[in-house]
Amino acid sequence: MRVGVLTGGGDCPGLNAVIRAVVRKGVRDHGFELVGFRDGWRGPLEGLTMELGIEQCRGILPRGGTILGSSRTNPFAIEGGVERIKDNLAQHGVDALVAIGGEDTLGVATKLAEMDVHVVGVPKTIDNDLSGTDFTFGFDTAVNIATDAIDRLHTTAESHHRVLVVEVMGRHAGWIALHAGIAGGASAVLIPEQPFDVEKVCAHVETRFQSEYAPIIVVSEGAVPVEGGAMTLVSGEKDAFGHVRLGGIGDRLASEIEARTGKEARAVVLGHVQRGGTPTAFDRWLATRFGLQAIDAVADGDFGTMMALRGTRIVRVPLAEGTGELKVVSPEEYAEAQVFFG
Ligand code: F6P
Repeated sequence: MRVGVLTGGGDCPGLNAVIRAVVRKGVRDHGFELVGFRDGWRGPLEGLTMELGIEQCRGILPRGGTILGSSRTNPFAIEGGVERIKDNLAQHGVDALVAIGGEDTLGVATKLAEMDVHVVGVPKTIDNDLSGTDFTFGFDTAVNIATDAIDRLHTTAESHHRVLVVEVMGRHAGWIALHAGIAGGASAVLIPEQPFDVEKVCAHVETRFQSEYAPIIVVSEGAVPVEGGAMTLVSGEKDAFGHVRLGGIGDRLASEIEARTGKEARAVVLGHVQRGGTPTAFDRWLATRFGLQAIDAVADGDFGTMMALRGTRIVRVPLAEGTGELKVVSPEEYAEAQVFFG
């Protein structure tokens, strides 16, 4: 059997670990031939392939990014896209695909599976907002990077008696902010799921300065102020590609805090630093196990499934389960991060 592999959407640490596991087990245990498709769904759409054997995977386990490249190409948004994919798979003799990606990439995989394309999905995103799985790989690395940044910002904030606003990734879900905020001892965590009241944030800043240290406020890029609140902040502006612009909310919140409280405030936007570099041991472990299970699913002919972590077990769930509703932070989980806020 000839099996294609692709990585789509925003890159994330651990993608290479999945590829390596798929290839090694595919070749050694199942006798498959593997072929890499470049740049997400653009690969099968345009017939862009690369050799993908054990040799190509040597040394890639600790490397961030993806040796296959990535893109946000959606074949369903291109006329005749699906037919081109089917033609190219046939032309390259590819019997099955392992698609590694987030909501959009696996959304395409879900639709293709319904159209009889043999595809198995592996969930990835630093945002950890895919349903069906307890964790996605890349998330732990991002949380560790953000936590390290928060640790470092404590000392400079205290030295200068400043407010530090740390903006982390998370357009729709506040998982990175929640986990890094708790781990880094942030005094407030603001997430997209729960619109925030700027007056309350400023009151918190004043209280912190009176009694304790300089406050560190962690804010998800997708967090928004309460509707009708006094704040004139606008979040979620889109750029020319229709993507939500990064950096907006942290800067605006810091300016607003300075203006209202008279305390010096600085914003730090972590941005793509959270997606780069070597994966943590947890993410390598999870990504490798996803890869091993995905190629077994191909061997079993269990198409239309996605690998998922449930507790400590990797299970197969229908692809649609992972690409349905996003997994967001519940009010109970958020409450845990709020105990020091106020
Ligand atoms: O979905 C992962 C993610 O890193 C989000 O947290 C972030 O909003 C987005 O991708 C950034 O996308 P891009 O790399 O296309 O700017």
